[in-house]
Amino acid sequence: MMKKKIDYNSIAPACASHRKPVLLALRELEQRVGLNDRSKVLEVGCGNGAHISLLVNATKCLGMGIDPSPQMLRHSANVPGLELCVGSAEKLPLNEGFFDLVFSVDVIHHLKDTRTYFGEAFRALRPLGAICTVTDSEEIIRSRNPFAIYWPGTVQVDLARYPPIPLLREPDDVCRLCGDRRKSDRDALRDY
Ligand SMILES: C[S@@+](CC[C@H](N)C(=O)[O-])C[C@H]1O[C@@H](n2cnc3c(N)ncnc32)[C@H](O)[C@@H]1O
Repeated sequence: MMKKKIDYNSIAPACASHRKPVLLALRELEQRVGLNDRSKVLEVGCGNGAHISLLVNATKCLGMGIDPSPQMLRHSANVPGLELCVGSAEKLPLNEGFFDLVFSVDVIHHLKDTRTYFGEAFRALRPLGAICTVTDSEEIIRSRNPFAIYWPGTVQVDLARYPPIPLLREPDDVCRLCGDRRKSDRDALRDY
């Protein structure tokens, strides 16, 4: 299915006023990755920075957020220790081996080529760093109410849009893309 591109520049003000951060995901990240003031964290597709800014404030880690939409970035809060820049998941404008954690929230279904993104994420990650992809599983899509009950057609549309979780948990191919040196990162990817 062809993915219809959403123009996030034009909906940036609406996103800024309605979008709520996924607090459970942030708590999990903080605890499972053990973030602290020496950690370096990259959020890909950070939008208005709601997640990365909360993480930076809570842990005092060094944060970076990347998003292709300058308008989305413009709605971000100014947080010391957080740098934001325009860029895309498929070509991260970063040096390799720097970050302890690379994560994304509700972005993976927008990407044309998830493998290229994971290759880029591994490149930006330090050895034994963690990658986390927050997205909607088939189970979540099928049980989103009231949409799934009153507009059941939306379920099939979204099942076609969102990459299935088992596909995202196929790190062997990703490791091959990145070379053996990153093999040990596989468990981190599988965990989430
Ligand atoms: C649903 S919003 C989520 C924003 C933010 N992660 C959040 O949870 O509030 C999707 C975001 O993905 C970004 N996006 C779309 N295509 C992208 C790409 N190729 N690389 C990185 N980000 C992308 C959009 O600009 C938008 O900010």
